[in-house]
Amino acid sequence: MIGESQMSEQSNIESILTESRVFEPPQSFNERIGGAYIPSLEAYEELYRRSIDSPNDFWSEVADELDWFEKWNTVCSSGFPDVKWFEGGKTNLCHNCVDRQINMGHGDDIAIIWEGEPYDGAPEIKKLTYSDLHAEVCKCANALKELGVKKGDVVTIYMGMVPELAIAVLACARIGAPHSVIFGGFSSQAIADRVEDAKSTIVITCDGSWRRGSVVPLKDNVDAATQFTELIDTVLVLKRCENDINWQDGRDVWWHDICDRQDEDCQCESMDAEDMLFLLYTSGSTGKPKGIMHTTGGYMVYTYLTSKWVFNLIPGKDHVYWCTADVGWITGHSYIIYGLLPNRVPTLMYEGAPNFPDAARFWDIVERHNVTQFYTAPTAIRAFMKWGDEHPNKHDLSSLKVLGTVGEPINPEAWMWYRKVIGNSECPIVDTWWQTETGGHMLTPLPGATPTTPGSCTRPFFGIDAAVVDDDGNEVGENEGGLLVVRQSWPSTLRGVFGDRDRFIETYFSRVEDMYLAGDSARKDERGNFWIMGRIDDVINVSGHRLGTMEVESSLVSHESVVEAAVVGVPHEIKGTGIAAFCTLASGIEPSDVLKDALRKHVGEEIGAIAKPDILKFTDALPKTRSGKIMRRLLRDVAAGTDSNQDVTTLEDFTVLAKLRDEE
Ligand code: WTA
Repeated sequence: MIGESQMSEQSNIESILTESRVFEPPQSFNERIGGAYIPSLEAYEELYRRSIDSPNDFWSEVADELDWFEKWNTVCSSGFPDVKWFEGGKTNLCHNCVDRQINMGHGDDIAIIWEGEPYDGAPEIKKLTYSDLHAEVCKCANALKELGVKKGDVVTIYMGMVPELAIAVLACARIGAPHSVIFGGFSSQAIADRVEDAKSTIVITCDGSWRRGSVVPLKDNVDAATQFTELIDTVLVLKRCENDINWQDGRDVWWHDICDRQDEDCQCESMDAEDMLFLLYTSGSTGKPKGIMHTTGGYMVYTYLTSKWVFNLIPGKDHVYWCTADVGWITGHSYIIYGLLPNRVPTLMYEGAPNFPDAARFWDIVERHNVTQFYTAPTAIRAFMKWGDEHPNKHDLSSLKVLGTVGEPINPEAWMWYRKVIGNSECPIVDTWWQTETGGHMLTPLPGATPTTPGSCTRPFFGIDAAVVDDDGNEVGENEGGLLVVRQSWPSTLRGVFGDRDRFIETYFSRVEDMYLAGDSARKDERGNFWIMGRIDDVINVSGHRLGTMEVESSLVSHESVVEAAVVGVPHEIKGTGIAAFCTLASGIEPSDVLKDALRKHVGEEIGAIAKPDILKFTDALPKTRSGKIMRRLLRDVAAGTDSNQDVTTLEDFTVLAKLRDEE
């Protein structure tokens, strides 16, 4: 059942298979957090049963906790792939994030705490109350309207981690214009591709953004993107770094020029539950990144509840929640903005790098802001481990109560370090498995209820009918690897791939009938805990960021020197998975280190720095099977420096393999 692409994960799986430590939720948790919503495994199991047996009752009760302009007719009205939730209901997610809190008398509570990266003796900090946020969001929404944005128009957002990023996102939701946020690390070509796919004519950006003391030239990248697409007719520019930028009159508009003079009131558009809220591009195994579509009602309800229960957020208890992700990824959408604000716990946004000005920055932030819930990625945890315990140890981290991880499997060693060094063995760890497509957490411990084991994302969240199956959809045996699927829709199921229905059906709903195919392999142990084993497709997870090996290959062969390229994942100490590329050069081109650097730079320009190969090798030919398939498994072994005991008789050219090995 485990496909070829899982072989590199094998050693990891073996170490996980021997992992049997079980950690009950710490006794002190209930008191420290101010009351666990789900206080025991029994409570979880009972409610889980109910959520599966009576999903309509379960979800309508949750939805009732939020504001609707008109109530829905049906909770869930259709199955895969055309999932619909809360049909007939009308609401607005910006209203539920902002206005609802003000209407309930909490306008002066803190909604967003922001800390900038520059550190000259003291950091720059901004705190926005719900009333502040309301005024800023309304001004931005009115400015967008003045710029001609109408309900249904896709607004592209390419900004650094500044409060205005959250403001822009919420302004779009307010006027019913779906946003497409592009991570600031992506290249101008990547911006252009996404703008073209989404048919978006407006981009919101910043002059620059701070990263490790340097300015990332965001506006320059947008300018360069306009060379690749003619669609962009308006660029709204926030001044952040005061770096020099080019200016095109008639196209470029300063944020402060247009937003500052707007009215501080802007009515929320009444949105159908199934109106599109946003598009977010993510990598798949083939072609260009696909625009994952999420809609309003179900996504709102699901991210609200998962935020509340997985992080045990309680308003009025001095909780301060910090997710270190960038809003450019789904984690930032769901668990910095949309799931958080309706829960009325301040959400902290940090602009810059974890090691600026030094490796203790994150712990300094935790201490100064008294962070209670902290959510980060395994790749960051591994980096912190490497930088040394002295950095966290010199800060008081006793405010922390829940620790979360997301994005990739966490190795037990990193899990144990996180628990002990950051959490002082007093904080439950929630290892949350989910995807851009799922909108919210799918498999996760609940901090007051679920016994945890390092490396396992444990149990399904309420309403999630997850299973490990074979190609016929039959559950495989205990501890047997198989396909991770979800058998019933959940409120924040993706609603489509923008502009490509065939790809939507093909990717998620064709291999196993009537089930959502996650694209991961997994196993379920004797206690009912899930263990993610790796992707079943050609997607690799680099520092918790999804990349298609095909995307990197296409970018390499788009360079004039390369005729063929194969890209595979390779174990990497910090990144989890690094990128190894094997290139065959055009005739007359000589391999050289200069060319290697040029190719790496080229990939950086085509996709973004995260896609630059860690290992780049030249080869006369790629090892292929007789039917012409590149033998990725062998390349992975070569890249990882492991000698292969595998049967190589199907190789078309043995010398190719021998040659690659010799180069080690
Ligand atoms: C992987 C990120 C193991 C997985 C929210 C998934 C994980 C892909 C975990 C989605 C986890 C995410 N344990 N693997 N806790 N969380 N993944 O769309 O392979 O950027 O399919 O969403 O990341 O990545 P995406």
